[in-house]
Amino acid sequence: MSLLNHQDPPLPGVATPPGAALDAQEREAFLARFGADQAAAMHLATVVLGEQLGLYRALAAAGPHTGEQLAERTELTPRLVLEWLRVQAVSGYCEHDPATDLFWLNPAQQACLADDGGPWFVAGGTSTISATHRSIEQVAAAFRGERTVTWGDHDPALFSGVARAFRPAFETHLVASWIPALGGIDARLRTGGRIADVACGFGSAAVLMAQGYPLATVAGFDQHGPSIRAARHAAAEGGVADRVTFEVADAAAFPGRDYDLVTMCNALHEMGDPVGVCRRVRQSLADEGRLMLIEPVAGDTLDDNRTPRGRSFLSASTMICLPSALSQPGERHLGAQAPDADFREVALDAGFRGCERVASTPLHRVLELTP
Ligand SMILES: C[S@@+](CC[C@H](N)C(=O)[O-])C[C@H]1O[C@@H](n2cnc3c(N)ncnc32)[C@H](O)[C@@H]1O
Repeated sequence: MSLLNHQDPPLPGVATPPGAALDAQEREAFLARFGADQAAAMHLATVVLGEQLGLYRALAAAGPHTGEQLAERTELTPRLVLEWLRVQAVSGYCEHDPATDLFWLNPAQQACLADDGGPWFVAGGTSTISATHRSIEQVAAAFRGERTVTWGDHDPALFSGVARAFRPAFETHLVASWIPALGGIDARLRTGGRIADVACGFGSAAVLMAQGYPLATVAGFDQHGPSIRAARHAAAEGGVADRVTFEVADAAAFPGRDYDLVTMCNALHEMGDPVGVCRRVRQSLADEGRLMLIEPVAGDTLDDNRTPRGRSFLSASTMICLPSALSQPGERHLGAQAPDADFREVALDAGFRGCERVASTPLHRVLELTP
């Protein structure tokens, strides 16, 4: 299965009570951790660069290279390519033989950094992190109450990066196990049926569902025009444009009815009125249809989220998801690490009978909402 199933180890907690004196050992441990974090953050700029410039792919394509050879192959500046290789080597992102000064990717590095489209590929989503850094001034103004920051206000690298970050998980799980975990929906879609993907972004989930259920039709909706344009392109590329439509629409007022399945992937938590949105979804469902929420995985308490995933999602929530929710009409702001109980409350308030977690991976949880 995918790398997205790898274990997420707990991060160290801090158990020192308020008012305690400075402890040298604790300080050194914290500085060591901060140093590692800072190095990773700095190195990430070179990962985004390597992905954009095709350096990992070029390194994977033809085995060990010197800096000079890789520069020649990629037609890039030799001295810069050599420095890039050196930082990949010291970071464990490529192998290096000091005797020959050759650099190469081992199979794990290749699968994760170079094999775009493969189930383990993680480099594609890294541009979301540099895009988030570009939004710091806007988000600071939102903290000061001077403005709001919508999804569309961010750097475009966020939109494509999110699509690339989540697509491997959708490819691995969506049709193979997430939809089959819902009561009766897989069987309905095998013989036809109607799906709506609300807040579809670049359309990866919609296109994959159309490919996985060749007799079903899929309608994708998103408030963000540039994403809808990218989604239409993805449907054409994926050979399903005859059964998949994409339209700009707000989630609280998307068109259509009698959907057998409505999906919302990585999205309800960043809306201002999740109850109003779920109410609209409920009205749009056929008899015994289902709303499937794919949400970032989270535990029930803050301590449960003391993991690298929790740290990533709470950071994204602070910088992207909650500013988005606060920019929209509505009063209920879930954030990317709301526990299942909060989603259940939203679902019941919107008139659903139930909201159960039916599947989870270390990256995602799947909630089935029954009308
Ligand atoms: C994190 S992205 C997820 C995109 C896609 N579902 C995926 O998983 O790749 C969140 C999406 O929700 C959309 N969105 C947020 N609020 C919305 C609203 N009120 N109505 C429609 N779309 C909304 C954004 O435009 C963005 O495309």
